[in-house]
Amino acid sequence: MTESKSFETAANYYDSVAKNYSKQYLRDNLETGRKYPQNYYRLQTIVQRLAAAGVRSVYEVGTGEGTPLAILARMGLEVAGCDISEKMVDLTREHMKEVNVDPNRIQWADIEDSLTFANQLLFGPFDALIALGVMPHVAKDNLVLGNMRMLLKKGGRIHVEFRNKLFSLFTFNRFTKEFILDDLLSGVSSKVKAEVEKELDQRLSLDLPRPRMGSDAEIGYDAIRARYHNPFEVPELMEKAGFIDIKIHWYHYHSALPLVEDRIKQEFWEEASKMEHTSSWKGYFLCSAFWIEAKAA
Ligand SMILES: C[S@@+](CC[C@H](N)C(=O)[O-])C[C@H]1O[C@@H](n2cnc3c(N)ncnc32)[C@H](O)[C@@H]1O
Repeated sequence: MTESKSFETAANYYDSVAKNYSKQYLRDNLETGRKYPQNYYRLQTIVQRLAAAGVRSVYEVGTGEGTPLAILARMGLEVAGCDISEKMVDLTREHMKEVNVDPNRIQWADIEDSLTFANQLLFGPFDALIALGVMPHVAKDNLVLGNMRMLLKKGGRIHVEFRNKLFSLFTFNRFTKEFILDDLLSGVSSKVKAEVEKELDQRLSLDLPRPRMGSDAEIGYDAIRARYHNPFEVPELMEKAGFIDIKIHWYHYHSALPLVEDRIKQEFWEEASKMEHTSSWKGYFLCSAFWIEAKAA
């Protein structure tokens, strides 16, 4: 992807939201109508898969405030990790103290720069690595996946998350137009594309979703680089970086077009929740995100 736009940095964004970030892991978010708990569901499956694989040590890239890593430590796994946000590192260290893990196992580092985290191989290489919410913010996929591979033992497991570009076909908004014109019809003549564009402009809600630009206290998510990936292309990306046995896991299902979500929130969420933990082909279109589970070759 070429970068022409200037972005707020991911580090500044995550610093600004760190204080409230753990709320996404409250167990009753769905029942109280506070938030759809997609990341809670994702973590449930990852915990299950890591336990089934019998891993003993896990490295997390992008620890956030540290709830996932603290759960893994409570399972008796050896943990370590990094984050590019100083505030997130501080919060994860606090969590580590609560679960009797040396807080120095968590450090500031940038997964795009191997020199900043190479010292953490002192604690590794690891049986598993998780990276949730990190790939949308990096510029060089190959470099980053290669760096993740470097932290793993041969045969080690990776769980790495991506935002799903194909979901645009179900949103009927400005992302649908972008995906059809820039991805699906790339290479088609400008005359044909102009006709398609005219048609789409009449049919889609191009003012949606409203950009989240934030407030004085918090930077908005749309002010940072947050890329989507095409699930048909990602397996090849993983293979090139030295991974085999690639499996896609879908999560954050949508039971209806996202533009009707506010009108029927509770029903929308309850119906979506029934689809989580299934592994249907519908995920390619109904899920806004997926993660890859694979083995280091
Ligand atoms: C969406 S949050 C997810 C946090 C945590 N993994 C979770 O699932 O709860 C992504 C985290 O990745 C971190 N991050 C983003 N880019 C990074 C990079 N290049 N290197 C290390 N961490 C990064 C962010 O600061 C943020 O804390």
